[in-house]
Amino acid sequence: MPTVDNPTEKTLADLGVESAEKVALLFADIRSKFDSQISHPLDQANWEILKQSWTGRKSGVLTLIGDNWLKPASAELKRTVGQELNRLKAHIEAQLETRRAAIDSGAQSAAAAKDRIDLSLPGVIRPIGSHHLIRTVIQEIEDIFVSIGFSIVEGPEIETPYYNFEALNIPEHHPVRDDMDTFYLDLPKGAPGPLLLRTHTSPVQIHTMEKRQPPVRVIVPGKVYRRDNPDATHSFMFHQIEGLAVDTDITFCDFTGTIEYFVKQFFGESVKTRFRPSYFPFTEPSVEFDVSCIFCGGSGTAASGGACGKCKGAGWIELFGAGMVDRAVYGFVNYDASKVSGFAFGMGMDRLAMLKYGIDDLQVFFQSDVRFLRQFP
Ligand code: DAH
Repeated sequence: MPTVDNPTEKTLADLGVESAEKVALLFADIRSKFDSQISHPLDQANWEILKQSWTGRKSGVLTLIGDNWLKPASAELKRTVGQELNRLKAHIEAQLETRRAAIDSGAQSAAAAKDRIDLSLPGVIRPIGSHHLIRTVIQEIEDIFVSIGFSIVEGPEIETPYYNFEALNIPEHHPVRDDMDTFYLDLPKGAPGPLLLRTHTSPVQIHTMEKRQPPVRVIVPGKVYRRDNPDATHSFMFHQIEGLAVDTDITFCDFTGTIEYFVKQFFGESVKTRFRPSYFPFTEPSVEFDVSCIFCGGSGTAASGGACGKCKGAGWIELFGAGMVDRAVYGFVNYDASKVSGFAFGMGMDRLAMLKYGIDDLQVFFQSDVRFLRQFP
């Protein structure tokens, strides 16, 4: 049998194959060629190439055999060639199919191995945020007042001068407006105005009394705005919590008792409170509440011996303003001043947080520095 590079490109006659035995040998030869090729490690892509080269319709080995060996075969050999070709075809197809299944399941198990979750591995620890300290302090204050019968209300941060000033007994040219210089909104021409960012939470006293009849017991946490330059104790935005209690027989004792209860709950039983006369247009009498210095225990002397730096040796720290609601305010909300009485207070929450948690720069609340925030998980 002459050796040729690719016998399937020749006819049997060209190859000198004239007997059934030689046909069988020729097919055996082709078959072992296939067997050797398919015995190599194959991936999906190589399998495709192999399949194409053997069973491809145009120029696959089977097609060539059909065209070059079978079709032009002599009448005596045609039957044998046909049978051999069918056997070869069946063998090749079966082998290809077996390999394909093996490749598939191998690929699947590799993919499955990749996707498998190993429950014994340590988990991914994602950092969890926490409440901002101001939020925590709001919550602490709310809890204390809610426990003694107050409810929480909120009000708008954009106000009219009427609610921010006039209805709180602060007429247009009243000097306290100077302390509350604030941001007025640039409104389009013709829009009803003026409007301003509220300078305190006190306007919500008016909103509340307009909507409700006594008894009223509310606290109002929220943001307030003033044209202050930022420094360790000032910011153009800070937080207040307003309180208002109005009923038919609220006395100055109810007032101071409530405040004292709050201060002790918030700072601890050991602190003392005192009040001093003060002035606010919407309270009469007005007071300023102080707490005994949390840092030196009220002694005015620092642990090192000198004057306490926090209270400057006074032993007291100013906390917030408060008072009995001025009769004039009831007039703005149609309460009968001869029948009702009550008290109000307005606390700077940032200040309370700074005192309680020993923070000496207000700005840290607004800088979102996680190194600061993480200290208060
Ligand atoms: N609104 C005042 C301020 O921002 C604080 C205040 C003082 C509120 C006395 C009150 C009060 O309700 O009674 O400075």
